[in-house]
Amino acid sequence: MSDRILQAAIEAAKLAGDVLMRYREQGVTMRDKSALGGKTYDLVSDADLESEQVIAALIESRFADHAILGEEAFQETDIQAEHLWIVDPLDGTNNYAHGLDHFAVSIGYYESGRAKAGVIWNPSRGDLYTAIDGGGAFHNSRPVKVSDHDQLNQSMIGCGFYYDRGEMMRCTLSAIEDCFEADIHGIRRFGTASLDLCLVGCGQLDAFFEYNLSPWDFAAGALFVREAGGRITTGRGDPLQLTPTSVLVSNDRLHPKMLSITKRHHPKPPATNQSS
Ligand code: IPD
Ligand code: CA
Ligand code: CA
Repeated sequence: MSDRILQAAIEAAKLAGDVLMRYREQGVTMRDKSALGGKTYDLVSDADLESEQVIAALIESRFADHAILGEEAFQETDIQAEHLWIVDPLDGTNNYAHGLDHFAVSIGYYESGRAKAGVIWNPSRGDLYTAIDGGGAFHNSRPVKVSDHDQLNQSMIGCGFYYDRGEMMRCTLSAIEDCFEADIHGIRRFGTASLDLCLVGCGQLDAFFEYNLSPWDFAAGALFVREAGGRITTGRGDPLQLTPTSVLVSNDRLHPKMLSITKRHHPKPPATNQSS
């Protein structure tokens, strides 16, 4: 994997981060996505849109034949593309909207479905997380690795809630209850999935789960965790695909124990109409 790719991803993430910080200083207007079938707490702003444009412009100017999958204006992309960039221009929109510093730009680069490079940039804290396939995971240029806890009663667990307050929320709450029954040290819900994955990679969280994430939430972070020695699967233990999916990330040692919890409470797949 060429260094050019990683450098371009870092450059794009930092330019996008400048956009996010500028909008925040000016005072940004958040709109809810309810008109698009979303909820009033599913937010978007000009900052999300411009951040994505800046990233796409840089990729298109340097790699004209590469495809881009992005949360806002780039959702209709073939995920099997030979060269695919997967972009969340603002992960943690709700934190951003409320003036919290915990948000990030996330950029993953995939070749024929395999993660090759990942960059996650939190511009308000100056935290840069990078990973290269086979080349390790780094936080602000320092190598990192996952924790070595192998018991739930030694662990700090992260979780996330999708923008759904029905079945998925009930399943998440039941799984959290089981974690507490296993005497974990605590549960954290920080609100930015890409950064949650980085915290597992850095050994600050021992595991993290969420019952519905999109590829742009985990594309870069999945590689970061893998390169830091961790494991990432669906909440049922299957390999991750680049589609909306449940996600379980751990330091590897805790995976079976966490899996028994996330599997037990996993939301059922939506019912299909079978007309045979
Ligand atoms: C969201 C965040 C949040 C997670 C949601 C995501 P957004 O992304 O990563 O932590 O719980 O499922 O959709 O909307 O802020 O880009
Ligand atoms: Ca996101
Ligand atoms: Ca987003």
